[in-house]
Amino acid sequence: MAGPDSDPDAGPLPDGGAPGGDPVVAAVFDAVAATAPEIRAALPGRRVESGTENASGESVLAGDLYADELLGDAITALDGVGLFVSEERETAVDAGGAVGGDGTGETADGSPYAVAIDPLDGSSNLRSNNAMGTVVGVYDAPLPATGRDLVAAGYVLYGPITTMVVADEAGVREEVIEPDGDGGVERSVVTDDLRLPDDPLVYGFGGRVPDWPDAFTAYAREVEDELKLRYGGAMVGDVNQVLTYGGVFAYPALVDAPEGKLRLSFEANPIAYIVERAGGAATDGERDILDVEPDGLHDRVPLYVGNEDLVERLKAALD
Ligand code: AHG
Ligand code: MN
Ligand code: MN
Ligand code: MN
Repeated sequence: MAGPDSDPDAGPLPDGGAPGGDPVVAAVFDAVAATAPEIRAALPGRRVESGTENASGESVLAGDLYADELLGDAITALDGVGLFVSEERETAVDAGGAVGGDGTGETADGSPYAVAIDPLDGSSNLRSNNAMGTVVGVYDAPLPATGRDLVAAGYVLYGPITTMVVADEAGVREEVIEPDGDGGVERSVVTDDLRLPDDPLVYGFGGRVPDWPDAFTAYAREVEDELKLRYGGAMVGDVNQVLTYGGVFAYPALVDAPEGKLRLSFEANPIAYIVERAGGAATDGERDILDVEPDGLHDRVPLYVGNEDLVERLKAALD
């Protein structure tokens, strides 16, 4: 995002992570960056239904499975990653990690790492050739866990260009990812301290209007009078617009689906972690998303995320 502090001639990242960042976190995002061009190149031939359903009861596209396989192989091969969770896999994969036969894995400092991914977010946009992405959360606890156990989170956005946003304890960075011409990738930091703009500009709300609870509809009517509608149907693309221009994204609780649609472990938590680190807020309507205690790996949660005052107004509206 060409935010106020973007540095157009910022060079490639030092070995993939924040300067002095955790080596396991850096290795996870090195792996995610390395697979991005392969996933992007594979999409045109994988727009068809696979004929299977996932744990969320959704139909799965060939692109979902391809991204899941490529990322799963790359991430489970990493030392220090003990557990791997994906939207497209019912149960967690014991990645072996360095130690820890129970699949939690151990890093040098003895803490476990678990990586939860949405291999292809917004995959229904494949048919209409609209933006989609990959979402990644790195937890230092076995899953399911709350978002407070996240040590880093990020997403790849397959838009007109391929970008990756990475948030960790050092802050939030945005990179452009390009093939380097001999099978690797060139990563260039384009924003080295990504912050949510103070003045909000856009909103995007999922679900069908008749399915919105009255309190959310009243909030939406207020926001519609203040901001511009930007809803593309892929959470990653819609959140990236909020991070770029300021505003609010929601996939709300619906009258017949009070848990909403988005999954906590590999959609809402990583996005909430990123946006909080960029100066924003994320709630399920009552609590911070990062405090929601899940029962299962595929638990759904309503997600309202963006500028703090817009999120606070939402919580008051639903109260
Ligand atoms: P996924 O493709 O990973 O299953 O996620 C789709 C999600 C999310 O990306 C987006 O915000 C939402 O579905 C859109 O839902 P609608 O099609 O109901 O708008
Ligand atoms: Mn899906
Ligand atoms: Mn998704
Ligand atoms: Mn997905």
